[in-house]
Amino acid sequence: MTRVRTTTNELAFPFSLRPMVKDDIDQVSTIERESFPTLWPPTSYRKEITNKIAEYIVCVCDHEYLTVTKQSNGWRRWLRKKGTLVTVKKRLVAGFLGVWYMGGEAHIVTVAVKGEFRRRGIGELLLIGSLELATARDAQVLTLEARESNNIAKALYAKYGFLEAGLRKRYYSDNHEDAVIMTTPDIKTSGFQQFISKKKKEFDLRYGTNSREYL
Ligand SMILES: CC(C)(COP(=O)(O)OP(=O)(O)OC[C@H]1O[C@@H](n2cnc3c(N)ncnc32)[C@H](O)[C@@H]1OP(=O)(O)O)[C@@H](O)C(=O)NCCC(=O)NCCS
Repeated sequence: MTRVRTTTNELAFPFSLRPMVKDDIDQVSTIERESFPTLWPPTSYRKEITNKIAEYIVCVCDHEYLTVTKQSNGWRRWLRKKGTLVTVKKRLVAGFLGVWYMGGEAHIVTVAVKGEFRRRGIGELLLIGSLELATARDAQVLTLEARESNNIAKALYAKYGFLEAGLRKRYYSDNHEDAVIMTTPDIKTSGFQQFISKKKKEFDLRYGTNSREYL
């Protein structure tokens, strides 16, 4: 992984968060398929990014691009009379997260990191993003469900103050596994806000500073 030093000589984390846009959907859907192979039907992100009660963010790589060849349309086709294929450079999406807001609660409906980018802090950065979004939206708590066997995800949430609050029996239709409900304490309290500030400082020290362009 390339690490870049910023002008202030701090280590820069070469990933940033921003809202998910239509152009990200192909990459997000591929990560979803790879991360949740039994999920059916797949999520319609085209619908979800226009869902008024939802918010989706992606973590993009600052220095890696994906070159995609696609069918040109409209003015592009008119400009390039030679052919109908154009090459587009897209930011590489390393992970994504979605939140639904319902009655004072921010519910994390999905979070996943592309296989080869795991264990580099991207899951953490996405979770920090969701906590910042939920605070900006004036939510009181963040909640989510995780498979009981998903110890990796449970460890990530526990690190950010989520506590196990109960079980949804046989919640997952593919294998009837139970879901563990995890929830934060009241995120508006100064105690929790101090805890999150400390976590963010620890993150920056370990991985470097990063840009978050979604608030
Ligand atoms: C869960 C997931 C999003 C974590 O993303 P990630 O970018 O690899 O996680 P991070 O590198 O930010 O790790 C953050 C913390 O998660 C936990 N964690 C991550 N990978 C772990 C592993 N392989 N083993 C144990 N704990 C792990 C640790 O607590 C880690 O903190 P630490 O580095 O101080 O030990 C990723 O594994 C994933 O996409 N899994 C498949 C989809 C999924 O299960 N989503 C959750 C649905 S509820």
